[in-house]
Amino acid sequence: MIYYNSKTQEFHLQTNDSSYIMKVAESGHLIQLYYGAKLTHREDFSSLDQRLNTKLGSTTIYNPSYERLTLETLKLEAPCYGKGDYRDPLLHLKYTDASRTSDFVFKNAQLLCEKPALIDLPSTNHHTTQDKDEPIALRIILQEPVKNIELHLNYAVFEQANVISKNAILVNTGSETVQIQRALSACLDLSHNNLELIHLHGKWIREAQVARQALSPGIFHIDSKKGVSSANHNPFLCLASPDCSESSGECYGFGLLYSGNHQCSVEVSPYDQTRVMLGINSFDFSWELAPNNSFTTPEVVMTYSANGLNTMSQQFHYLVQKHIIAPQWNNYPRPIQVNNWEATYFDFNSKKLMSIAKQAKKLGIELFVLDDGWFGHRDDETSSLGDYFDNKKLRGGVNRLSKKIKSLGLQFGIWVEPEMISIDSKVYKQHPEWAIKHADREASLGRHQLLIDMSNPEVIDYLFTQLSHLFTRANVDYVKWDHNRNFSDIYSSYLSHEEQGGFAHRYVLGLYRLLEKLTTAFPHILFESCSSGGNRFDLGMLSYMPQTWTSDNTDALERLNIQYGTSMLYPPSAMSAHVSAKPSHQVLRHTPIETRFNVAAFGNLGYQLDITQLTHYERKAITQQIAFYKKHRQLLQYGTFYRIQSPFTHNQTMWLVLSEDKSEALLGYYQKIQQSNPSLECPRLPMLDLRKEYLIQNRSQYLNLRNFGSLINESLPIRIKDRGIIHTLLANRYMHCVADEEYRLYGDQLAYNGLPLNTQFTATEMTDNIRYIGDAGSRIYHIQQVPKA
Ligand code: GLA
Repeated sequence: MIYYNSKTQEFHLQTNDSSYIMKVAESGHLIQLYYGAKLTHREDFSSLDQRLNTKLGSTTIYNPSYERLTLETLKLEAPCYGKGDYRDPLLHLKYTDASRTSDFVFKNAQLLCEKPALIDLPSTNHHTTQDKDEPIALRIILQEPVKNIELHLNYAVFEQANVISKNAILVNTGSETVQIQRALSACLDLSHNNLELIHLHGKWIREAQVARQALSPGIFHIDSKKGVSSANHNPFLCLASPDCSESSGECYGFGLLYSGNHQCSVEVSPYDQTRVMLGINSFDFSWELAPNNSFTTPEVVMTYSANGLNTMSQQFHYLVQKHIIAPQWNNYPRPIQVNNWEATYFDFNSKKLMSIAKQAKKLGIELFVLDDGWFGHRDDETSSLGDYFDNKKLRGGVNRLSKKIKSLGLQFGIWVEPEMISIDSKVYKQHPEWAIKHADREASLGRHQLLIDMSNPEVIDYLFTQLSHLFTRANVDYVKWDHNRNFSDIYSSYLSHEEQGGFAHRYVLGLYRLLEKLTTAFPHILFESCSSGGNRFDLGMLSYMPQTWTSDNTDALERLNIQYGTSMLYPPSAMSAHVSAKPSHQVLRHTPIETRFNVAAFGNLGYQLDITQLTHYERKAITQQIAFYKKHRQLLQYGTFYRIQSPFTHNQTMWLVLSEDKSEALLGYYQKIQQSNPSLECPRLPMLDLRKEYLIQNRSQYLNLRNFGSLINESLPIRIKDRGIIHTLLANRYMHCVADEEYRLYGDQLAYNGLPLNTQFTATEMTDNIRYIGDAGSRIYHIQQVPKA
């Protein structure tokens, strides 16, 4: 709901649990009064006004008519440079007379019962308002009185999600071209700085690492100059009170619907106020805005939680599911896939792929994904990107392969990397000008390839034609859309001199235009975004593609950190997670196949190893994993996700998904290393229903006998040699189940005292009441309400 107090010119944006209040100051500036827990609406919020009654020394007084008004301490909605606010501005414009002072003041406002979509950029959709007459969106128009430019500030409230969205559109209503040097999306000024900053940083095969630090005076700035949102810094920020934990304390979360160069900053001012801003990176950015044109900034979504980080994340997860991904994928059971990349890399032919597909069908897998190497003469990384004809190694091409795979009863998916061009390709020979590079400079390569010019409409048309043809002829159900190099040598042969400064943004606009066209033409295709793993995991891409390949790192322990961090903003249904080979191709670690599954199960499950080479033991384990996943798919993909214990700070990681009515949950429990003589464990589960009684049982999973070495002789009537033929035979064939665990407890005890887990293995003794977890060991516990007698 959005309220407007006309007398005091106040705007109150209210969600189920939060309030965001702004007003027009006496000077005409739009200022913030409050953001936090929900306030009851009242006719006058002037008691929230800042009480600054003394003249501050060394400040700039905005205007002699307001003796005490300085912009330096006001909580500004649209701060600019030039009138006395010395914090970083939201906007920085240069006019034809070379002046750079801007000053936007209130012109008018409009309450809206429907949220307008943004033009050319992805935006949250708001189809679900119960009461059609209830305002859920707001447009406030500010005006620069001297230069006659308008700034349209758009807002929307998502009541259930407890999210407020904002963005800004600059409209040149004047008669001169304006140069935009910076146009960020949104600014939030908080009155204090007693906060800690949480953000996600990383790199290839090490995405979404959680960092937390106290704020201090000055500016903390994260960004991307890579052309993609990047794994270095996800476009996400959280400000949390120092005592904020997963389940208690205050925090604010911010996310940006944008997939290119971004910047996110937190500034603590000399007056201990905190300014948060997000938007397109202003580094290496400029945009000529001609009269009668507008410039739209990407949307920011922000949420407030009074109950810790889990609530913040769950609010974002809800938003992603209900208001960001396309409605046909909301609650859609995401198929279990097999992907041939780590099984074959480039070395495959139709026969090999068919044997993988047949085995996949037997195991219960639903979707076969053909990865890189099916086109042009691409038999390694060095060629053919941009060409879309079939590679000779596939007899009858992808059409025939798709037909054969579908006749097995599997869906067919395909890998593409449309934003790239190889120098060794037919398309490059025809259109060298489509590559991103400067004619006078030898271009630097990334993975031997160049970027294709997504700012050129001709390129977008070419890609649309090629891809539409491919998707149709191969009858594709799923597409993995990859992007494997970052920007360098940026220069477009298509853009004019004036337009080059906006290249990085124009690239993203071109990408979005193509995605919009393709997803409209092929609404039934499930698209998965990928950029060497999670190098472009953001809310912008999720608007077109409801899932993302979380990381090229499929090692189970590494994935704990990556999926834990990613869950800060993105729900399990947005994360794809695969079981891959042992040892891991990324870190050469040996982890049990059950742990690889137990981690991957909390996402969109897939298998990415040569399943034609499985041992009997692995085949059996995988068959059961898939059956378990199918049975609990709804809960695993769409249940409410709770982080319980962090892999960044603990040896044991725990997380849980809970059904809406709290009658069922799945708890993931993971251990990095086995400790000697370990402590008793009694993790608290405060998210369950306090009054319900629950039965808690472990998923029945297998243990590899090899783990026990010669200790196996303690429980066998005969003596066998460690790693001898019999030992190996037994290990590969004999399915030894972990000891069953069963606990029956009330929700209040689980919340206040915890789940008293059986003791872990402690030197030689193995009884039915002992949990053997081991190094990189894990369990999934099924928690089910006991029906009342
Ligand atoms: C990237 C992706 C991988 C795989 C390869 C294929 O690295 O992240 O999953 O598709 O490209 O070249």
